[in-house]
Amino acid sequence: MECSWKMVLLLVCASLGVQYTAIRSLRDSFPASCQGSSTCQTRQPKESRWRSPCDESLFPVETTTSLTRRHILLFATTRSGSSFTGQLLNQHPGIFYVFEPLYHVQQAFTNSSSRLQRTLDRRALLGAYRDLLLNLYTCDLSFLENYIRPEPQDHLTGSFFRRSSSHALCSPPVCQEGSEETLEGQPDETWCPKKCRALNLTLASLACQERGHVAIKTVRIPEVGDLRTLTEDPRLDLKIIHLVRDPRAILSSRMTAFADQFRAWRIWNATGRQPRYVDLTQITRTCRDMEESTETGLQRPAWLRGHYLLVRYEDLALNPEKKTREIYQFLGLDLDHRVLTWIAQNTNVSTPSSSSEWNYKYSTARDSRATAESWRHHLGFDIVRTVQNLCNSTLSLLGYRPAQSVNDLRNLSKSLVEPRGFHPVR
Ligand SMILES: *[C@@H]1O[C@H](CO)[C@@H](O)[C@H](O)[C@H]1NC(C)=O
Ligand SMILES: *[C@@H]1O[C@H](CO)[C@@H](O)[C@H](O)[C@H]1NC(C)=O
Ligand SMILES: *[C@@H]1O[C@H](CO)[C@@H](O)[C@H](O)[C@H]1NC(C)=O
Ligand SMILES: *[C@@H]1O[C@H](CO)[C@@H](O)[C@H](O)[C@H]1NC(C)=O
Ligand SMILES: *[C@@H]1O[C@H](CO)[C@@H](O)[C@H](O)[C@H]1NC(C)=O
Ligand SMILES: *[C@@H]1O[C@H](CO)[C@@H](O)[C@H](O)[C@H]1NC(C)=O
Repeated sequence: MECSWKMVLLLVCASLGVQYTAIRSLRDSFPASCQGSSTCQTRQPKESRWRSPCDESLFPVETTTSLTRRHILLFATTRSGSSFTGQLLNQHPGIFYVFEPLYHVQQAFTNSSSRLQRTLDRRALLGAYRDLLLNLYTCDLSFLENYIRPEPQDHLTGSFFRRSSSHALCSPPVCQEGSEETLEGQPDETWCPKKCRALNLTLASLACQERGHVAIKTVRIPEVGDLRTLTEDPRLDLKIIHLVRDPRAILSSRMTAFADQFRAWRIWNATGRQPRYVDLTQITRTCRDMEESTETGLQRPAWLRGHYLLVRYEDLALNPEKKTREIYQFLGLDLDHRVLTWIAQNTNVSTPSSSSEWNYKYSTARDSRATAESWRHHLGFDIVRTVQNLCNSTLSLLGYRPAQSVNDLRNLSKSLVEPRGFHPVR
């Protein structure tokens, strides 16, 4: 029997119905099916990266590259520049991009459990997150229907979270209504919610299959270690883009975007006095999660090899095109000209575009260079100093310099970002 990529695909397809827990036995069954062919290798050592049952040298790298479906995870935290980074994937015509599908899972869990239970259910919640990701990566959107409220009828829903952030869900065949706007290059956000009818999830699954690759953005998974079973899953070729950002910038952005939740912080910022009831735990947890994930990545465990790339948002904002090329190189995908066009239109305010219309909370159309540093004008120095103390090891690990004085903070010619090269884990 010839051991070809077709067979691998067939096996992958056949295995979709297999329970997630059966991965190990599935893995063991692959090499046997290749043994008839002399070109195939026997099983690889357990720790080595599991890729295909057959020797990779069987096919030239380029061929493998274009044929294998990539399962891309933009792994981030809220207000870390993930909408911007997500667009770099969303604009690629071969990528089916979904913006935070785990929102629906969290909503469903949050409503059904008490606060106490929620803590106890952390493992269950993470498991549900992973199951949903796995199903979405195989273009099965029906699993998601269990979580969408109100419940979809006939696979139709009007409640898909941030549908218009997904170009595939706003274009044919999923939405036939917007061809004009798409041609004019208007951002989907400006017209898709108004023009596209209820989302047909069956059609969306088909559209997903038609595109070669799936990318999912999430801000709801705490640590990269929580993704381990997905990187080890033989049905996936997971590519984790771990997006980090200066925690001082994250805080500043959260204070603006989630004004109610951050009222105490805003009072502190406005008055220069720290209210007793300021919640320091959230930013502390954000730093700890970012740091632990980064440390895991830097340790290069076998299960992350070929699956992990650390990206600092600041590097992306300062050098969008260069960094985007690095990301696509890591993904093993060609950089489509549409992605480059989007970068040109959205990272430089001097370039005319339709960006003026596109101005809401999650807007990504802006001068990325200026935005990355704007927090330095928007936070009082005592707040900055507090975050620097809470997050000092995270800052030093990621190459963010503490500001020692107000002048350090406000004088933008003093960079607070140390040059660092982070390479993919190989
Ligand atoms: C959760 O419960 C609240 C209050 O009962 C309700 O307004 C909301 O729609 C529910 N959300 C979901 C996703 O079920
Ligand atoms: C959704 O799309 C599928 C696939 O094209 C189609 O068969 C089905 O009739 C559509 N559902 C509705 C309610 O329009
Ligand atoms: C931004 O756009 C202006 C006007 O189109 C151009 O002169 C300038 O070189 C651009 N800057 C960058 C960094 O692309
Ligand atoms: C903090 O206060 C300054 C002026 O006092 C203001 O310009 C800035 O926007 C505030 N920052 C945030 C995040 O609210
Ligand atoms: C962070 O602060 C603690 C306590 O002040 C100190 O012990 C530690 O060395 C600092 N870590 C770094 C990386 O600066
Ligand atoms: C800002 O920093 C630069 C470089 O350190 C320095 O030359 C300049 O004088 C500073 N400007 C102000 C206003 O302090």
